[in-house]
Amino acid sequence: QFAQKNGFRFFMEKEIYEQSDVVSDCMLGRIKDSEINFDEINPSILDGINEIKICACGTSYHAGITSSYLFERLSKIKCSVEVASEFRYKEPLLTTDTLFIVISQSGETADTLEALKMAKNAGLRTLVVCNVDNSSMTRVSDATILTRAGIEKGVASTKAFSTQTVVLWMLSLYFGKIRNSISKEKLQSEVSTLREVPKSLKIEDSIHEKAKRLSKRYLHGHGFFFIGRDVFYPLALEGALKLKEISYLHAEGYPAGEMKHGPIALADPELFTIALMPQNMLYDKIKSNVEELSARDSTICAISPLDFDLADDFIKINKSEHYMLEFFEMLVVLQLLSMEISIRLGNDVDMPRNLAKSVTVE
Ligand code: G6P
Repeated sequence: QFAQKNGFRFFMEKEIYEQSDVVSDCMLGRIKDSEINFDEINPSILDGINEIKICACGTSYHAGITSSYLFERLSKIKCSVEVASEFRYKEPLLTTDTLFIVISQSGETADTLEALKMAKNAGLRTLVVCNVDNSSMTRVSDATILTRAGIEKGVASTKAFSTQTVVLWMLSLYFGKIRNSISKEKLQSEVSTLREVPKSLKIEDSIHEKAKRLSKRYLHGHGFFFIGRDVFYPLALEGALKLKEISYLHAEGYPAGEMKHGPIALADPELFTIALMPQNMLYDKIKSNVEELSARDSTICAISPLDFDLADDFIKINKSEHYMLEFFEMLVVLQLLSMEISIRLGNDVDMPRNLAKSVTVE
């Protein structure tokens, strides 16, 4: 109730712009020199653990999928992710060598909370990555890491996602350190990349202007495909979810390499492809996926640091050394694009129809 828009048109816009600062807050004290530390958790959290299982809903689920790539890559721990409402009723096979992580902005989402209780009752060690201290999930969970994003008012989550992703990335490095599965040099270089994240979340006027201009082009058509590979696949899911939530346009996030197995049949000029084309992660692969869509006349909007001749529209992000910095640059573009489309359609950006900030019923 104390939150103000501070001159922004919507809370969502303010929260998109806050990301650079809140991400710095979320790293404060957790990154020292070239080390990562979480005072709130004990390294013994990994004793006897062979596997990580993540459960969440909505945007938090997308942060979970993103982190599953990082846990396997950086901590070398097997990791799987599930939507909490599916997990609850599938009679999951739970073993006590699994660390159960739930991710939630509010700490109150009913499905996630129940999944957490199930895991706890089955004797698993539990950890919640949460934005609200003293919420139901932080009370149930064995351990808590707070994301420190501050109050998030916009129903469409923005800064909660960026802080969750940063926390989980730091955690994957911390686990790698505990497990000795990451080299000192690699850890150092990842930490110095983490320090660059606030910069990559700073929004240049030209990028916002571009999103505003492009939003005009994307009010019609019969749908959007957001495509990406690796961590850019969950980012594509998140981009599509943002657009659905506040513009009510049909959008799907898809792994770029999977388009040929069905969805490419939809391609025509009225199908808009938002292609996430990072320089530092499988560029040639995604490029050929996008070329296939372009050859079938889909309208292509490429988001990339590299020029791409076949793009009908192009949003150029800064060149970065590390794919995760490209990830955060693109995240902001996707958030701004969906917000500008929603504004142009005259929708209530902060309170989209049919949605609630926190879903405490099943
Ligand atoms: C609701 C919100 C989403 C959010 C999801 C999970 O559906 O509208 O923005 O991602 O709940 O919320 P949580 O608080 O658990 O992250």
